[in-house]
Amino acid sequence: MKETTGEEIKRVAVIGTGLMGHGIAQAFALKGYEVNLLSRSKESLRKAIQEIEWSLSKFVEKRILSRSEAETVLSRIIRTTSYEEAAGNVDLAVETVSENMDLKRRVFSRIDAIAPSHAIIATNTSTLSITEMGRATGRPEKTVGMHWFNPPQLTQLIEVIKGNDTSSETLNNIMEVSRRLGKTPILCKKDARGFIVSRILVAVFNEAFWTYHRGEATKEEIDASAKFNGGFPMGWFELVDFVGIDTEYDVSKILHEAHGERFRPCLEVTEPLVKKRKLGRKTGVGFYDWSKGRPRISSDLAGKYVIERSWAVAVNEAAWMVLDDVAEPKSIDLGMKLGTGWAPGPCEYADRRGLDRMLNTLEGLYSQYAIELYKPCPLLKNYVEKGWSGKESGRGFYKYS
Ligand SMILES: NC(=O)c1ccc[n+]([C@@H]2O[C@H](COP(=O)([O-])OP(=O)(O)OC[C@H]3O[C@@H](n4cnc5c(N)ncnc54)[C@H](O)[C@@H]3O)[C@@H](O)[C@H]2O)c1
Repeated sequence: MKETTGEEIKRVAVIGTGLMGHGIAQAFALKGYEVNLLSRSKESLRKAIQEIEWSLSKFVEKRILSRSEAETVLSRIIRTTSYEEAAGNVDLAVETVSENMDLKRRVFSRIDAIAPSHAIIATNTSTLSITEMGRATGRPEKTVGMHWFNPPQLTQLIEVIKGNDTSSETLNNIMEVSRRLGKTPILCKKDARGFIVSRILVAVFNEAFWTYHRGEATKEEIDASAKFNGGFPMGWFELVDFVGIDTEYDVSKILHEAHGERFRPCLEVTEPLVKKRKLGRKTGVGFYDWSKGRPRISSDLAGKYVIERSWAVAVNEAAWMVLDDVAEPKSIDLGMKLGTGWAPGPCEYADRRGLDRMLNTLEGLYSQYAIELYKPCPLLKNYVEKGWSGKESGRGFYKYS
């Protein structure tokens, strides 16, 4: 059966109305798509619509939309609790239910039974296998990862992930739909846990946690160095508090299982807080006290943690992704810049700084601590041996002419 092309996709089902679902429905409706929004209960649908109305009112306040445009956007969203109504007439369904494989497989299979045969089924999963969900349907080639960032109606980035069975036609269509939504899609070429952005972030969090655990720097010193020396938008502990320590804890364990010892998490740092339900901003306390707003981190503490270590593990993980053909340097850099506000991305940074220096830093850390996190990726060694040491030499992660 011929697939619909990206530009022919007009009607979309969004399954699930949690934090992500309502924002995704709004993002589609804002760009003229007809949306069927499905929730399990009328009550959660009502709450989702309230959230969308609130967000649209902010767009009106900021004069991004007129009041009548906002009403038109809202009118494009049909609310339903019935799968038949939600998926019966769509070109694309985006699943945004809770992060649980059994549940997601059931949802995929239900959509598959109802949706027209040309329709694509996408998942917003952060950590689960797209391939496995796709195989719960009779159309695995038309299943794909479409990983949004929070809040979906505002953020720029979408990671598009190829499952083992995803066809290039499906991938291209979702890349095209993402562009039509006004987003920047980046392609994750393999169904590799953590995709692109989370994988780099967790490597950096692990390095900060191990350093803290060894008593070499306080969390305030690490965060001050990240912000004021590294130019990162937040300190690493502050960012984990912001995301939720429980979320980071779960993801770090999944990455460890998938990618091995390089991702051994420092559970000594996170687990006690998870057990005490000190989960960060959402519970008012985590690494920091959030009861009076964002933690104040003094710039006087900057420099006590060598920020080059964060860069070194980020660059190393980027090298693994390039080596394993998971992502192109450009996608990795775009992902980190748009998804987390880094400037520059790790491949750009390494090329500027010199791959030989990054390799040196990693080798030094590896010989000092003997943990896999610091073991240099063979791709980095290979590039340096070939004289591809970055911008100055004309070739690093990128080619310069
Ligand atoms: N929160 C984030 O920042 C974020 C970012 C990217 C991706 N994601 C992913 O998006 C998905 C949803 O996350 P969330 O943060 O919106 O979670 P959430 O808990 O806010 O929402 C999950 C929704 O799924 C619904 N649900 C549960 N079982 C259902 C069923 N049988 N049928 C229909 N709906 C059902 C729940 O009622 C709830 O509305 C997860 O896969 C998550 O990993 C989350």
